Amino acid sequence: MDLHHRPRRNRKSESVRALCQETSLHPSDLILPVFFHSESTDHPIESMPGCTRWSLTGLADEAKRAFELGIPAMVLFPKVDEALKSSDGRAAASDDGIVSKAIATIRDAVPEMSIITDVALDPYSSDGHDGVVEQQPNGDLKILNDETVEVLCEQALCHARAGADIVSPSDMMDGRVGAIREALDTHGFQDVNILSYSAKYASAYYGPFRGALDSAPKAGDKKTYQMDPANRREALREVALDVSEGADMVMVKPAGPYLDIIREVRNEVQLPVAAYQVSGEYLMIKSAAAAGWVDEDKIIVESLMGIKRAGADMILTYFAKEACELIS
Ligand code: PBG
Repeated sequence: MDLHHRPRRNRKSESVRALCQETSLHPSDLILPVFFHSESTDHPIESMPGCTRWSLTGLADEAKRAFELGIPAMVLFPKVDEALKSSDGRAAASDDGIVSKAIATIRDAVPEMSIITDVALDPYSSDGHDGVVEQQPNGDLKILNDETVEVLCEQALCHARAGADIVSPSDMMDGRVGAIREALDTHGFQDVNILSYSAKYASAYYGPFRGALDSAPKAGDKKTYQMDPANRREALREVALDVSEGADMVMVKPAGPYLDIIREVRNEVQLPVAAYQVSGEYLMIKSAAAAGWVDEDKIIVESLMGIKRAGADMILTYFAKEACELIS
């Protein structure tokens, strides 16, 4: 054939392919979400095979392993004792709570690790909701916006006092980023970043996570605060509001089924963009691999590369440690 253009020339060898690679994946792109509890032993998480609910001692060792692999940050998810849960999630702001202890533990084990905390009430909510719950006369549950934001500010301050580097509101209440920024600044925490879950969808992909923390809504769903999976423009509106309220980084969640949203957000804002490969995405890969249907290692790297290519600067993923080993 008399071909002038032969794109395959740029794929002819490993080294030429390396030169032409447009997207790369580094350990420093990855954030490891971790689960922990106040018990003294580590427990495998039934709803998320391969993940562990750590004791504080186990958490310290996990932080060391992650940091040695090159992972710069962890995001903390506590499993809270049933007795501490209430309809307004007040225990979320308690200075002697398990999150404060976990921050101190990780800081001590790995001083350089960036510690990200989740700001939302669900682990502390007796109703399994991210905000303060009010029962309506007809029995429906209403998630109160402004009352929730007050508690979220207290929670963020509690995390900042304990030494969190970055607070990460995942609740989707209106106005919480601005309110948290003001609360942090007023109390001398100007250097604590806000990583906002800006476009967080009401997704069935969170199921295994709620199993891990025993935090599923007891009634109703999260559709009055998390976004409709059908909406794209609304994601840009949410992101624009968070940027104007002072977010330092914005997030799209879930990641894999929302690559178009990641790209739109990347094109729209100057801030770093994070994406969360959530528990359901993790489990779909894990279960297909366990059945022998897909090559786990290759799918891990490809799924993360896709999220990075879509425009994410950083990825929260339960595969963070495996991925570091696979790409090194
Ligand atoms: C709660 C929270 C959720 C996740 C992170 N923070 C669950 C939810 O919103 O119901 C999900 C993470 C995952 O599925 O891996 N604020």
